[in-house]
Amino acid sequence: MAGQDTIECVTGAAAKTSGISSTFLGLLGTEPLAGSSVLDVGTGWGRLALELAPRSRRIVGIDREVALIEDARRRAAAAGIANAEFVVADAEAGEYHAFTPDVVVAHLCMSDAIVERAGRVLAPGRAFGFVAFEAEQWRETGRRSRFAYDESRARAVLDANRFAVEHLEIERETQQYASLEAALAAVVGLEDKWRSDGRWFRYIKYLEEGGRTLTRSHLIVKARRR
Ligand SMILES: C[S@@+](CC[C@H](N)C(=O)[O-])C[C@H]1O[C@@H](n2cnc3c(N)ncnc32)[C@H](O)[C@@H]1O
Repeated sequence: MAGQDTIECVTGAAAKTSGISSTFLGLLGTEPLAGSSVLDVGTGWGRLALELAPRSRRIVGIDREVALIEDARRRAAAAGIANAEFVVADAEAGEYHAFTPDVVVAHLCMSDAIVERAGRVLAPGRAFGFVAFEAEQWRETGRRSRFAYDESRARAVLDANRFAVEHLEIERETQQYASLEAALAAVVGLEDKWRSDGRWFRYIKYLEEGGRTLTRSHLIVKARRR
């Protein structure tokens, strides 16, 4: 799924909070979170969950990585947040009913399996909001992530799972670097991951041929269960 690709924050011209798109937070902010139980799928260390907790009745963050869930619990305790719960769970196995969500959110952790589960757990009228890697993410590496969504694929899977799209936009930024060193510095931290999936050598080739850009592209969606 998208979440396995790497931890990557939205960047771009729009103002951000905690590395999360302000557009996305604004879309969630129009939901009645104060009376809602929110499920954050692929919560990681709880970046989105901890952001939403003060505005929500309750939030449950799930992630399959034990260390990240423990980190999220520590961060919640340190921040004095008592209405956030963090659970180790595989978001693509089983169902979400045990978490009793009124709203499902996912930030950079997206797959058809997650959309299917959100569609089954949410009652008609309930919202599902997510940010996913978009097809143009890191296009300079010459390899599209198998977890990336383009607009048509996102619309198709949402429709198939009885969601009406209320908002869909792409936040994309292509960063231009003045030198080879700057272009390499921009991807420090990604080398191991990109070596393992073949993108590193393609990016190096791109740089050797004079390329000096790196594109980040995210799909921001709010949909409502029909
Ligand atoms: C790119 S990170 C995003 C984390 C967090 N949402 C954020 O924005 O900071 C993707 C997260 O999804 C989690 N993940 C990936 N596949 C998962 C699955 N099948 N079940 C649960 N968590 C998953 C990863 O462990 C990782 O923490």
